[in-house]
Amino acid sequence: MDQPADIILAIENLSLGFRGLKALDGVGLSARKGETISVIGPNGAGKTCLINCITGYYRPREGCILYRGRNIIGMKPHQIARLGIGRTFQDPTTFPHMKGLDILMAGRYLHTRTSLLEGLLFFGRSRAEELASRQRVEEIVAFARIEEVRKVPVLAMTYGQRKQVEIARVMAMGPGLVLLDEPMSGLDEFMKEVVNELILDMRQRNITIILIEHDMRAVMELSDRVVVLDHGKKIAEGTPTEIMRDEQVAEAYLGGLSYEREAA
Ligand SMILES: Nc1ncnc2c1ncn2[C@@H]1O[C@H](COP(=O)(O)OP(=O)(O)O)[C@@H](O)[C@H]1O
Ligand SMILES: [Mg+2]
Repeated sequence: MDQPADIILAIENLSLGFRGLKALDGVGLSARKGETISVIGPNGAGKTCLINCITGYYRPREGCILYRGRNIIGMKPHQIARLGIGRTFQDPTTFPHMKGLDILMAGRYLHTRTSLLEGLLFFGRSRAEELASRQRVEEIVAFARIEEVRKVPVLAMTYGQRKQVEIARVMAMGPGLVLLDEPMSGLDEFMKEVVNELILDMRQRNITIILIEHDMRAVMELSDRVVVLDHGKKIAEGTPTEIMRDEQVAEAYLGGLSYEREAA
């Protein structure tokens, strides 16, 4: 493939099927370093499937996914995470007994260079890394406003707090590419604003972001480009303004009414 050097993610002709259903049908998408690309579309359009393919949870039937020029199809989720691809889950309930701070530290360790064995052999270096990690994690805790759940297990957190911790966990990884699956769904206006700031901070750090989100105000504000999926197919791509004016897109959303209301 002939691509500019700063392409972080390049997806071509991606297809995924479940028995008779085409969850993804020939989807293509690319993201440059530091870009935020939103993926929108009605429920069941294939948005989460797309993230599951990129992160190794689903294996596509056809197509190719290159991360920094390297084909990642067939790799396991933990191998893909190690490459620096972080994701959040739509309804985060993984590790129900882990406490807020431990989740962030675990996310961080995935990415520090020191392996467990190395850490035992070269205590000095890993101690320095540990200190740096703790410092960065505390920074993120403050920024994500999750101080009150540092010592609270996931089970005892509110839904909103779980979503906050989920984003903070991915930030703690120090990722190169982040995939956010409806990070604002179910949050009140205040929490949405906090999440908005977290995403803006990632943008400022030049992290490439794929954002799945129904909140059109956030999509308009945060995205460089918007990709629209419907029934597994990409039906439109453009700047947020272009997409808002696209009639086919409006049609995919219940005659466009929900769209205009959200944008107002
Ligand atoms: N593991 C699965 N088995 C069967 N069908 C699935 C599975 N995962 C997703 N699907 C189907 O694929 C389609 C796209 O789902 P999804 O990507 O979750 O949509 P959304 O755009 O709402 O995130 C839906 O019809 C969904 O029911
Ligand atoms: Mg989904």
